[in-house]
Amino acid sequence: MPSSARDNDEPKSYTAAWIAALLLIVAFVIGLLIYPPLYDAPKHEPSSFTLFIGRFHPIILHLPVGALGLLCLFELICSTRRGEEKYGEASLLILVVGAAGAVMVVMAGIMLSREGGYVGGNFTLHQTMGILGTVGVLLALVVRIVAMGRESMELLNAYRALYFISFGIMGLGAHFGGNISHGNKFLTEHAPAFIKGPMVGMEKWMLSFVEKPKAEPEPKPEPKAEPKAEPKAEPRTEPPTTPNTPPTPAPTPTAAPASGEKLVFQHVILPVLTAKCNKCHGEEKQKGDLRLDTLEWAMKGGKEGADKNIIPGKPDDSITIQSIVSPIDADEHMPPEGKDQLTPEEIALLKWWVQQGASGTQKVSDATFPAELKATVDGILKG
Ligand code: HEC
Repeated sequence: MPSSARDNDEPKSYTAAWIAALLLIVAFVIGLLIYPPLYDAPKHEPSSFTLFIGRFHPIILHLPVGALGLLCLFELICSTRRGEEKYGEASLLILVVGAAGAVMVVMAGIMLSREGGYVGGNFTLHQTMGILGTVGVLLALVVRIVAMGRESMELLNAYRALYFISFGIMGLGAHFGGNISHGNKFLTEHAPAFIKGPMVGMEKWMLSFVEKPKAEPEPKPEPKAEPKAEPKAEPRTEPPTTPNTPPTPAPTPTAAPASGEKLVFQHVILPVLTAKCNKCHGEEKQKGDLRLDTLEWAMKGGKEGADKNIIPGKPDDSITIQSIVSPIDADEHMPPEGKDQLTPEEIALLKWWVQQGASGTQKVSDATFPAELKATVDGILKG
């Protein structure tokens, strides 16, 4: 009885499914060409359209999560011939919806990343695995349509393997996205020990692949810079100029064109926060519920200063600025007494940045730093 539908139109063509699949693949490829995934600071000022659409990333991601999650259940049912006959076409529809959602979410995510400040291991894994998972789901869609056209159980099984692997990659990638917004501990903090151990271990293991190269280059430049500076200064051509270095800070700012693509927030402000604040207000710890490791978090503020932590143009009303300019023995003073304090120049720099709009996208080359802070800025840019 249930086979009557099949007898009527023996070779099914799945034309609509093919059209949907091809449209999705073309849209994805064109989207990635227009918005290539970046792992470093965006080079161009993003358009307001890009920023507008980007903010939908955390909203529309629920579509593929729901559709592709439901599809897991459907595919378990479909793994028998009778199940496939009954629910195969429904599964195909859910797969198309989920794949479309994944394509939209990846594109919106890349657009969101153009706001700047999205760097680091969690972001690298999130973006890479999100894209890989989506490629896998699109491939799986093609295989499913072919398999259904040929009524091949073998191909359907191959499809299912590909689908579950892609879904797994996507799910893991999504988790690192969650880490970006909620902090690394969010999911594991209250987990029972036998879950927490393996989960944290696996997460660290995965992050170690993408974070290692980041940790190494930092110590390297220093040992290099020192030995170079010493031998050069005396035996070579530099003696006439370098011994009198104090007056030279003026030429250095202009002589630093290498910083052309660098961003004020990411390359000047964030390093100060990373060094002096983010041991307590970063990924690992969020004292006072405050994170200062991305612009978005800094804007969001902590438990006292929600939405007034940084008020663009109004440093005096911004809780973070208030905390750093308050006397060292005041309760609200940051960093807390006894910890590595900000220098007066660093305080002035943070104030200046908030005063002129707390931009996340302004380029160093476009910024006019106060003259007395130029040396500090150059020092930060050189690391
Ligand atoms: C050694 C740890 C530590 C460091 C370093 C540190 N803070 Fe804090 N910060 C805290 C703690 C603890 C609190 C919470 C105080 C409370 O809730 O009473 C806090 C709270 C804050 C708050 C209030 C958040 C809110 O909305 O309630 C701000 C703003 C802040 N810190 C800014 C900074 C800045 C800026 C820096 C770097 C210049 C910094 N902190 C460095 C420990 C630290």
